[in-house]
Amino acid sequence: MAPIGTSLAALRGDMAARREGSASGAKRPARATRADGGAAAEWIPAGASLAALGAAAMGCRACHLWTLGTQTVFGEGPARARVMMVGEQPGDQEDREGAPFVGPSGALLAEGLAAAGLDRASIYVTNVVKHFKWERVGRSPRRIHKKPNAAEIRACRPWLDAEIDRVRPSMIVCLGATAAQALLGRSFRVTGQRGIPLPSPIPAARAVMATVHPSAVLRAPDAATRERARAEFFADLHAVADHLRTADGESGGVRAPGPAPTAPPRPAPRSA
Ligand code: URA
Repeated sequence: MAPIGTSLAALRGDMAARREGSASGAKRPARATRADGGAAAEWIPAGASLAALGAAAMGCRACHLWTLGTQTVFGEGPARARVMMVGEQPGDQEDREGAPFVGPSGALLAEGLAAAGLDRASIYVTNVVKHFKWERVGRSPRRIHKKPNAAEIRACRPWLDAEIDRVRPSMIVCLGATAAQALLGRSFRVTGQRGIPLPSPIPAARAVMATVHPSAVLRAPDAATRERARAEFFADLHAVADHLRTADGESGGVRAPGPAPTAPPRPAPRSA
């Protein structure tokens, strides 16, 4: 697996190799589609490396979403990353390119990471669900994102657990409520508890922090709201960098950040 500092282009090459491997190497599932709890466990080879997990995931049929998506979009990044970022599911562009966070949300994420002094190429980036769930609305040719349901999240969960187990990050950052509630429980509210490092309920990681999904910033209804949401999102990413510096007492993957964005005071928490 790629060492820390490996460029995104190199990581993409790695993903392409995995896809090719799965197309030709053909570890195909013996079982038909299932959508019950943790069904992906059947596709996970025991003791597999991160790269082998990525290859095996290409053939996953643990729920019906493989029939919608172009391909499995597995996590990407160094096997020894100190930070793992977890989103909801790949979007339209990620589905076509086969890599997580390569569309508009990914661009905003990369910008926020850079402002916080974090190098995206040093971070392992993945999603709770590995296939793009979408629907057509009316006659529009656009594929509209559809939120994964509890059964789909449960079916896919063994892949995320296996990724966390292999990477063993210092911190998992949940991007949005789907990731936060998958890892921290259904009662977790991003609006009330964002930006706060919490002890990880998963032994293979040390801490967990939740923030908003970057798409929520992009979807803000007007420029002023968007600016505020962006500043708050960037402030949370600064908190990730601060935590790494203080908790681990080292600077691998973290450069001195620019000045922390001055996010306006947050309104009183609402339920998310
Ligand atoms: N949104 C996500 O949650 N994940 C991606 O990979 C892209 C957009």
